[in-house]
Amino acid sequence: MLPPGPSSHPLVQLVRWVQTPYPFLDACRAAHGGTFTLRLLGYGESVFTDDPDLIHAVFTAPTDTLCAGKGNDVLLPFVGEQSVLTLDGAPHARDRRLMTPPFHGQRMRAYGQIIARAAERAIADWAPGRTLPAHAAMQAVSLEVILRAVIGVDDGDDLAAGQRAITDMLATVSGATVFFELLRRDFGSWSPGGKYQRRRAITDKLLYDVIARRKAAPGDDILSLLIAARDEDGKPLDDEALKSELVTLLLAGHETTANSLAWALAWLTTQPEVLAGVLSELATAPDEPDAISKLPWLGAVCNEVLRILPVFPIVMRVAVKPWSHGPLDLPVGARIAPCIYLTHRRPDLYPEPEQFRPQRFIDRTFAPHEFLAFGGGSRRCLGQAFAMYEMKIVLATVLRTVRLKSVAGPSPIAERRNLAIGPRGGAMVTIEARL
Ligand code: HEM
Repeated sequence: MLPPGPSSHPLVQLVRWVQTPYPFLDACRAAHGGTFTLRLLGYGESVFTDDPDLIHAVFTAPTDTLCAGKGNDVLLPFVGEQSVLTLDGAPHARDRRLMTPPFHGQRMRAYGQIIARAAERAIADWAPGRTLPAHAAMQAVSLEVILRAVIGVDDGDDLAAGQRAITDMLATVSGATVFFELLRRDFGSWSPGGKYQRRRAITDKLLYDVIARRKAAPGDDILSLLIAARDEDGKPLDDEALKSELVTLLLAGHETTANSLAWALAWLTTQPEVLAGVLSELATAPDEPDAISKLPWLGAVCNEVLRILPVFPIVMRVAVKPWSHGPLDLPVGARIAPCIYLTHRRPDLYPEPEQFRPQRFIDRTFAPHEFLAFGGGSRRCLGQAFAMYEMKIVLATVLRTVRLKSVAGPSPIAERRNLAIGPRGGAMVTIEARL
């Protein structure tokens, strides 16, 4: 028997999950404890848990028993079947091996100046007195960075066209589009599904064109690496598989970082003491990406941003063989979801969890099953190091350039934004001054 959970109709559970995920999770834990079963329409039985011991067991379970690729089936309409997010087994391991190195070490650090320049450009028109959603500028930065890293685009048409196509496509995606298939169907160009399908076709064409160009003239970008890769039988990835991985990196690599940066600005503009700490650290640090990426308080602020209201509430695994841990027996087909949000709100791990307090990351190091903003085990986010590097450099650039004031309430409120969760209204800020 699975742990108890809400008895409401699966459609009601799905609607609450889509509309107000964090209050829904709080209510489930209050009623049923930290490990409970949801029945979300179309997704069967899913055990959600905030128990670090159980999460550790999930993250270290055999990958032929608990499968993350199948657990990410909600992403299939966006990234396809041949994506590192939706693959399992040997094909997953192959693609992951290929895609990981460019986002680490020296290759990653080569992007430091590109990130800083992209941030400067995105806020160049932030004039004193203007009020705007910070998310839009943060999205422009993270999309530019990932387009350069993954596809190797230079300044000019490719960059602008890529940014426009992907931003337009994502503007048609909401939490409801992700979870309700009907909303993705094409009922004509004015229907949400129709708009999505048309914008999706534009993005796909752009990506197939760029694949053809890189095949003719390889560069040192990730797409060129994927084109050159061969499987055990010496076969290359076909164009559809290449496109699947491009969309994966473009979406996973920019939506997440854009929302995290918007969260960071939403929190910093409501926490003057925390902001003062960042500014005083920056005042003595060299204006150099590597030095900035090592600043301890800035790092703690980024972690606390990802802890308190993470961009993903859960990660998901599907049992393809029966799996047991302690009293839990998971049958084939059932799902288990380490719950990032609820684990990050456990008072025994994070005292007064609703308080924004970066100091906790200075005082203590958290294990991967205690701080899981980037997931865990062999499926942990392959862009984690890159995302943290980018967040710190962008925040340093923004905070050194402008003085901001929040126009929201005392603490930010979460809403689903495209595929992730971000601050309501996109983190509205007023520019007080340019520095
Ligand atoms: C703050 C920013 C980010 C957050 C919070 C985040 C979070 C996550 C999470 C929770 C997962 C699922 C892990 C699991 O199932 O255990 C994931 C997977 C993934 N992320 Fe990220 N991510 C971020 C940035 C990035 C960036 C910048 C990239 C690309 C460079 C990226 C690429 C990926 C990929 C390819 C996967 C699939 C990994 C696999 O299944 O093997 N992410 N990310």
